[in-house]
Amino acid sequence: MRTSFVRPFLYCLAYFIGCSHQPAFTQEYDDETAEKTIDLDAFRPRALDLSKNLSTIAFGSCNKLHLPQDMWAGIVASQPDLWIWLGDIIYADTTDARALAAHYKRLKTHPEYRKLHERVPVIGIYDDHDYGTNDAGKGMPNKRAAKKCLLDFLDVPYSDPVRKREGAYQSYLFGKPPHQIKIIVLDTRYFRDTLLPDPNPGRRYLPNFEGDILSEVQWEWLEKELTNSPAKLHILASSIQVLANEHGHEKWGNFPNARKRLLQLLVKTKPANLLILSGDRHMAEITRMDLQGLPYPLYDFTSSGLTHVRNSQDEPNRMRVGPMVVRRNFGLLKIRWEGDRPVVSMEVRGLQNELLYEHTVRY
Ligand SMILES: [Fe+2]
Repeated sequence: MRTSFVRPFLYCLAYFIGCSHQPAFTQEYDDETAEKTIDLDAFRPRALDLSKNLSTIAFGSCNKLHLPQDMWAGIVASQPDLWIWLGDIIYADTTDARALAAHYKRLKTHPEYRKLHERVPVIGIYDDHDYGTNDAGKGMPNKRAAKKCLLDFLDVPYSDPVRKREGAYQSYLFGKPPHQIKIIVLDTRYFRDTLLPDPNPGRRYLPNFEGDILSEVQWEWLEKELTNSPAKLHILASSIQVLANEHGHEKWGNFPNARKRLLQLLVKTKPANLLILSGDRHMAEITRMDLQGLPYPLYDFTSSGLTHVRNSQDEPNRMRVGPMVVRRNFGLLKIRWEGDRPVVSMEVRGLQNELLYEHTVRY
């Protein structure tokens, strides 16, 4: 009796919130039924307010659910206009979509995370542990379900174009001229070719000169996003580091020709004032490259380790600016404008929102 009353109500609600399919309220959660299933505790689509000028953007990565979720109050205290996930939102390490969805739901309903989620718009991308398994790429079975679980977690409506294409890459243009900010979120997993294992101890991968990270369709999309963009600040979010290239772990440098292609694309399209954000490394650092043909220094600001950090205190990176911060951290961008030129403070912040390191760029 009660069910017969509630179910039509939920169908109507699902229709109005943008699901293009009739929802099937089933316990099953596999790739077949995933796109027809809505769990209103785990998925409450909400439209982002893109009209708002962003002045503070927080981001982070690498969040183990079995460790204390005690960073969120500090992140809220930093008063961000937006939170960007840079991957390893959870460590599910599974190809079972139901298990993955359950992990996301545990985080989303966690009272500490809700402090952020209920106040601040959230966008982002997965890395390997929330995509499938450690260092996974295009061969991951059930990757469509991994994408679906991510987008549900992020409350991306079913009407959004990202739902209809392969991969989870996204772009957002925030604010009003002349202070628009474009955030481009890359998918470095869904299409990424095979890594070549390095037999040397301490180094994991050899360069794969043939391999690609993005796929042609994502490259074409990225070029369109960068070409003649009206934004005066561009933020390119990549789960793995783009610039740091001396370490032996995951990085764009494992695919040297893809990395070169990305840098060449920036020089070709010359988007106004582009800054890279990355995660993955269980430490924070800022890497700077002066790229011939690009009229500003290119920075890759890495923040990783919301719940845990690495043991080793240093690794070579000749392009690093300031220290490598091996403490639990999140990243904060504070943006102000001098006319139409952004001044961006890149801040590494700790558990209590304390400042651990700061570097300011006047573009
Ligand atoms: Fe991680």
